[in-house]
Amino acid sequence: MLIFERNSELKIYLDKIRAESRQIGFVPTMGALHAGHISLINESKKQELFTVCSIFVNPTQFNDKKDLENYPRTPEKDIEMLRQSGCDALFMPNAEEIYPKEDTRVFNFGELDTLLEGALRPGHFNGVAKVVSILFDKIKPNVAFFGSKDYQQVMVIKALVKQSNLPVKIVACPIIREADGLAMSSRNMRLTKEEREAAKLIPLLLNESKLLFKARKPISEIKGFIASKLAQKPTYKLDYFEICDPQDLHILTDKNEVKQGIALIACFVGNIRLIDNLLLD
Ligand code: PAF
Repeated sequence: MLIFERNSELKIYLDKIRAESRQIGFVPTMGALHAGHISLINESKKQELFTVCSIFVNPTQFNDKKDLENYPRTPEKDIEMLRQSGCDALFMPNAEEIYPKEDTRVFNFGELDTLLEGALRPGHFNGVAKVVSILFDKIKPNVAFFGSKDYQQVMVIKALVKQSNLPVKIVACPIIREADGLAMSSRNMRLTKEEREAAKLIPLLLNESKLLFKARKPISEIKGFIASKLAQKPTYKLDYFEICDPQDLHILTDKNEVKQGIALIACFVGNIRLIDNLLLD
């Protein structure tokens, strides 16, 4: 696996790959890799793409400075995992390479940017859009792979690609879960043993919400049930639990007659904020 820190060197190399008529698959990450990230690399390799991964902890998408400082960084382990996965190239730029000058662009994703994560983390998706558009410009992938744990992020990136007319196909890959159901996340490594044990309640509650949805319980009742379960546990602080339309993330209420929804949850376990989701049908 080749490792690049500079745009200029990466560009020369990827131009050669393109000249050989090879297609590029791209997996953008912020490092602290786990099996979920590797599943994205595997999907790219399965599609016989020249696979490029990037590791860049993007400062513009953190609305909380402490969260940025505490974001886990495990570069040696990441490189080893990527080598073993068969990833072809790794781009590990510093902030200067990505943002040589301040990026003042303001994207408009409409309602997508004002609800759920958008409402609780102002500016977050604008920062994601900045870095992803910069990385797409440098790598010029044919296909880019994202994990569905960040369901709203995938929708924002699809909107970005559409409104900026970018020639890249976005593939959303399934959530990879631990044996007890907890969605894999770089943030899980910051949980204490007790918090990690407690966190398995999140997927359990999502599954319960699916059963209730199937049983046609009113959405308000399902939401009340989840909130009351979490309120009983002092380790948890619920940011949101919503059932939305999977197509546009519009928040559903009892008034909506729907056959399909997506349950999305964000909650703190101790000091660590975790998100997860599950399709309901
Ligand atoms: O999902 C992530 O890890 C990040 O938001 C991304 C897409 C790599 C942009 O920094």
